[in-house]
Amino acid sequence: MEKLVEVKDLWKTFGRSGTLLNKLGNRSQVEAVAGASFEIGTNEIVSVVGESGSGKTTLGKLLVRLLEPTSGEVRFRGKNIFEMRKKEMTSLRRSVQMILQDPYDSLNPLFSIFASVSKPLNIFEKNLSRKEKEDIVSEHLEMMGLKPAEQFMYKLPSELSGGQRQRVSIARAMILKPEFIVADEPVSMLDVSLRAEMLNRMKKLSRDGGSSFLFITHDIASARFMGDRMLIFFRGRIVEQGKTENVIENPKHPYTRLLIESVPVPDPERSKAFLSVDETNGYNEEGYSAKGCRFASRCPFVMDRCRNTEPPVYTISKDHSVSCFLYE
Ligand SMILES: Nc1ncnc2c1ncn2[C@@H]1O[C@H](COP(=O)(O)OP(=O)(O)OP(=O)(O)O)[C@@H](O)[C@H]1O
Ligand code: SF4
Ligand SMILES: [Mg+2]
Repeated sequence: MEKLVEVKDLWKTFGRSGTLLNKLGNRSQVEAVAGASFEIGTNEIVSVVGESGSGKTTLGKLLVRLLEPTSGEVRFRGKNIFEMRKKEMTSLRRSVQMILQDPYDSLNPLFSIFASVSKPLNIFEKNLSRKEKEDIVSEHLEMMGLKPAEQFMYKLPSELSGGQRQRVSIARAMILKPEFIVADEPVSMLDVSLRAEMLNRMKKLSRDGGSSFLFITHDIASARFMGDRMLIFFRGRIVEQGKTENVIENPKHPYTRLLIESVPVPDPERSKAFLSVDETNGYNEEGYSAKGCRFASRCPFVMDRCRNTEPPVYTISKDHSVSCFLYE
């Protein structure tokens, strides 16, 4: 498979302004993305799974350059997007799209649905007539189940439900037939009954239209359904990655095993900690613990060395790797 996107040792650190620690002069920081490396092939869907605050949106925004990294590279067709100049960026904006987690962020509240969805056509397909644009917008809205499209096109975002807005955002991202789409929790606001249908449509669009996807979700079942490959994200780190069947059928990292609920828990007291939300959210006084495994405070298999040294990446098989000392 041809490589479309290559991510190499990507880091994004945010300052934690406004926190009590900062007010006291402590320069603590959040490593939202910490050394991510992976690839996405042409026509491939890669799922990212992780809990709230693990850095999924930050990773997605870096991949389409809505954010600049602290360090590292994202190569699109071999070219580092963070070194692209204006002209190359214009062409990148046509080839890559992001469906934002909150559709309010991508739809101008003062513009009709038609105006928002047709905007990319106004920029990149200037020669189309109004009628042609209406037909394309209508086709894409109907593809997302907003039928008949005329009922939605001239409404404002505030007149639609959250789920309908989410479908508009998907239609908008698809309209230029991009090569690469970052879809950030794209169906989270839809009724459960509609979610599978929308995911199916997105998968079909990817297969038929030849788009690659980074599909972001906190739900391992949708990640499994959508992804050819999976990245398991925990506090900014990819703790496990590989072909979907490898990760699901042979999960290695204790966190992945927790996610798919097949973990044998040796000690009931530890299992409580394992399943509970860590109220410190992984921060110590320096922000995320600078050393050691980020999962150590919740891991039932933790060893002394886990608290002092960050585990490196171990290869399990051709398309399966894990960051955990248990697989040394
Ligand atoms: N602009 C920002 N400034 C400061 N900190 C930020 C910023 N954006 C994100 N963060 C922090 O980075 C971490 C990762 O956030 P991010 O939104 O990427 O997580 P997420 O996995 O998408 O979460 P969710 O599932 O809730 O959407 C969080 O601790 C968050 O508070
Ligand atoms: S490195 Fe240690 S603490 Fe981290 S997941 Fe593996 S066993 Fe658990
Ligand atoms: Mg997010």
